[in-house]
Amino acid sequence: MKKKIVSTLLSITMAASLMGCDALKPSSGEDTATDSELQVGIVLPTRDEPRWIQDEASFTSILGDAGFTSEVLFSQGSSATELTNVESLIEKGIDVLVICAQDATAAAQAVEVAHAAGVEVICYDRLITDTDAVDYYVTFNSFDVGVQQGQYLIDAYAGQTGVPLYLYSGATTDNNAFIFFAGAWSVLSDAVANGQFTIANCSAIDEYVGQTLDVTEDHEALSNILGTITTNWDFNTAKSLAEANLVANDADLKGDVAILAPNDGTARAIADAFSADSDISSFVVTGQDCETASLSYICSGLQSMTIWKNTAELASTTCDMVNSILSGNSPATTTTYNNGTIEVPSNETAVTVITIDNINEPVDAGYVSASDIQGYPG
Ligand code: BGC
Repeated sequence: MKKKIVSTLLSITMAASLMGCDALKPSSGEDTATDSELQVGIVLPTRDEPRWIQDEASFTSILGDAGFTSEVLFSQGSSATELTNVESLIEKGIDVLVICAQDATAAAQAVEVAHAAGVEVICYDRLITDTDAVDYYVTFNSFDVGVQQGQYLIDAYAGQTGVPLYLYSGATTDNNAFIFFAGAWSVLSDAVANGQFTIANCSAIDEYVGQTLDVTEDHEALSNILGTITTNWDFNTAKSLAEANLVANDADLKGDVAILAPNDGTARAIADAFSADSDISSFVVTGQDCETASLSYICSGLQSMTIWKNTAELASTTCDMVNSILSGNSPATTTTYNNGTIEVPSNETAVTVITIDNINEPVDAGYVSASDIQGYPG
């Protein structure tokens, strides 16, 4: 049954502008949730990766400051737990579900249950595919994440030829893994075609050298490619795959190498494997998420770059959407994403490349603490 839009909240006219979330803020002590019901349910994939703990902290503070009642639950790598979490949040009376899918297609069931209960659904960071039961999508510019990773490798080896290039991807159950890879390949493809790089661990991509791959149109091709280089977003899988690739290769595919690693956790695992191979003279490896452990790796030269995706900005955009929905309005959106069934109205947030040269930026912004970063300069 559709939960009513909270009348207490609607009667409040004072608009608060907090961290970009222009919420209707209640006066002090006022209960924003009628009958103590929850307004916003947030379901995140796992508490085992620092990335999602950052998101949890951002949501708790931004939605809380804006006067909304919310609860965050984690799926811990299980679509079944994800569904149970969604059901329990519906039971608690939520009007809006913010969900970062564990598995892009399996999560369709959970959002269909939410829709049937009259709950509005915002896909958060990861798009849920092949269902019409999603209303909005809030995301970073994931294609640009891949472009920046690929371009970093190109710039690092500018003017060189035949540099071995090792490719790794995220989980094939995560739509973002396709977008990141397509973004990276949109620039690496020509760099392979013109001889700068030699692919060292992915023969499945050979026939696409010199071409770009589109996430929607070339989904099957991407699926096949990613299937051979997937880390499954898992550190141990990433390390084992890198070790297997190194065992399989001769010295001509070693020396100074470039590594496309999809995120920080897998970058560190892959870096550890490459560091242990005496035929590797040096490596340049990408990352993503601006995790403190990876900032430490950057300080010690073991990781080359990361992509800072400011979760406070994403949570803030989500909070604005929640506010519009709970006020009975349609949230403003800037673009759409095709999820295989519908064009989902979406908002995109920009990302920032972090290297040793601008490592102070996330520190100065208070996103991470300098004291947690080993070897932090200055
Ligand atoms: C997120 C990344 C994250 C990865 C693994 C992706 O969907 O966009 O930030 O590193 O999942 O959790």
